[in-house]
Amino acid sequence: MDFTFNEEQKMVIDGARRFAREKLAPFAAELDEKAEVNIKALKELGRLGYLGMTLPEEFDGSNAGVIAYAASMIEFSKADAGTSVAVSVQNSLVNDAILTFGTDEQKKKFLPKLASGEWIGCFTLTEANSGSDPGSLRTSATRDGDHFVISGTKNFTTNGGIADVMIVFAQTCKEKGAKGISAFLLTKDVPGFKVGKHENKMGIRSSSTTEMVYDNCRVPSSSLLGEENKGLKIALTTLDGGRIGIAAQAVGIAEAALEEAVRYSKERVQFGRPISELEGVQFMIADMATEVEVAKTMLYRVAWMKESHSGKYTKEAAMIKLYASEMAHRVCHKALQVHGGYGFMKEYKIERLYRDQRITEIYEGTSEIQKCVIARSVLGE
Ligand code: CAA
Repeated sequence: MDFTFNEEQKMVIDGARRFAREKLAPFAAELDEKAEVNIKALKELGRLGYLGMTLPEEFDGSNAGVIAYAASMIEFSKADAGTSVAVSVQNSLVNDAILTFGTDEQKKKFLPKLASGEWIGCFTLTEANSGSDPGSLRTSATRDGDHFVISGTKNFTTNGGIADVMIVFAQTCKEKGAKGISAFLLTKDVPGFKVGKHENKMGIRSSSTTEMVYDNCRVPSSSLLGEENKGLKIALTTLDGGRIGIAAQAVGIAEAALEEAVRYSKERVQFGRPISELEGVQFMIADMATEVEVAKTMLYRVAWMKESHSGKYTKEAAMIKLYASEMAHRVCHKALQVHGGYGFMKEYKIERLYRDQRITEIYEGTSEIQKCVIARSVLGE
């Protein structure tokens, strides 16, 4: 077992850390306040190779690997979790799905533009009445000769308002229910498509989250991603990888919260000494640091499983998504507590981290869904 990064990984991670410090952190509070995307940074991340981290060079990817991707996600998330979710969706949900299920033509058409950041992608699965149960989605794709006509409304789509490319899941065979769902690759210029409501969120406010409205969008059957009626499997396979990205996001948020708590506890003087000298505070810091370390270690193990193609990692991805997101909840709670009343104020970064953390327990499968996945696997169902 080797727990060290190789030279290439170190370079990629150092670059991510520098970028986060210089290009994300200084703008994060303002963009959170205004609920605006740091599109300039996202485009630059593309040019630097961070939007095609697991894509081979053949498609202009930087081929940095899943471990370097997870570590870079930690760095971006420490500075701005809104930008980091956009990076995660592009790498894990969009690029990976096209690389795994796309035709040669689709790979050539979409991947180089996604890897370079020229195009931003999104993954539209969720609907108003279909969240944890994606098999019940209602958006329809009706065959019409060698075309499909797509109609329906998706919601809570990350990157929705900035996406050039969309992976859309729709019912191609209503009678088959969950086994009648297909995935489609669309570009934003398809007639009949428009971005709907922009959500006003509690956290990760520098990410775009929107409704996506498809009104009789006529697309050629070559827009199918993977086999017809295999869409749910495509979604769930892809989400296994996505959960590594979200777990990394949670670890990054938690690590930033820990750093804030450490810094503040050394500066804040009460009872004649820095509060870092009080045992009650020290115990909280010790708990936080231990939990972050545990999550990080498992995160890299799951990332290694995906990178080394050593078999299915569905259970492990669910475990680390569950553990890291709930760990980040506990860590942000304690870090805010260390700040006392100041932690409740917007001037302090912990206030934003506390809000940003919450979604990691919800998107790409709630904690309860992760427990279902883990339990099914452990019980051998
Ligand atoms: N990999 C590959 N195939 C899988 C799979 C996986 N991880 N999990 C299930 N499958 C297959 C099953 O074998 C089954 O195949 P067959 O039809 O051939 O039998 C099929 O997929 C359906 O599986 P289930 O019968 O197990 O499905 P289910 O309806 O019982 O649901 C679930 C399983 C775990 C609850 C799943 O629905 C789930 O993960 N739900 C959560 C959805 C989710 O994460 N949504 C997030 C939205 S996207 C988002 O948040 C992105 C963003 O913008 C940030």
